[in-house]
Amino acid sequence: MTEPTSERTLILVKPDGVQRGLCGEVLRRVEAKGYTMVAVRLLIPNRDLLAQHYAEHVGKGFYESLVGFMSSGPVLAVVAEGVRVVEGFRSLAGATDPTAAAPGTIRGDLARDWGNGPQENVVHGSDSPASAAREIALWFPELA
Ligand code: RTP
Ligand code: MG
Repeated sequence: MTEPTSERTLILVKPDGVQRGLCGEVLRRVEAKGYTMVAVRLLIPNRDLLAQHYAEHVGKGFYESLVGFMSSGPVLAVVAEGVRVVEGFRSLAGATDPTAAAPGTIRGDLARDWGNGPQENVVHGSDSPASAAREIALWFPELA
């Protein structure tokens, strides 16, 4: 049932998370927190989708390695719903740098620095309701 003031966020289990068999663990934490899944999709994202998704990072030093990493294998894209889910999932995910991410968070518990370039941090979560709307339209055009 849709909550009266609920919002939606885009969650991605990145290629490192899918390859390591962590989709179930990520979804378990999202569901255990009480959020609802609205849509799921497994795909290998192409450069065009990633350029739109990471538009804020185009031209930065880590952009090419980020796109190479994100297109290196399947990604599980999930739309989750609930009151303040954008903020709530960012809290579940933890800090971007997996070494610094607090224990108890997805990145703190399940990710580490492998010393090989792009930060492999298992998940993405939209950083604002406006970003979520933009990202959901990219990954799930049928929901727009
Ligand atoms: P995300 O978008 O994936 O949820 O992560 P975030 O908001 O915590 O971090 P953001 O600044 O949006 O960066 C997006 C992803 O790019 C990679 N990254 N690498 N200096 C670096 O090497 C660097 N900075 C960012 C990470 O995979 C990060 O999650
Ligand atoms: Mg981000």
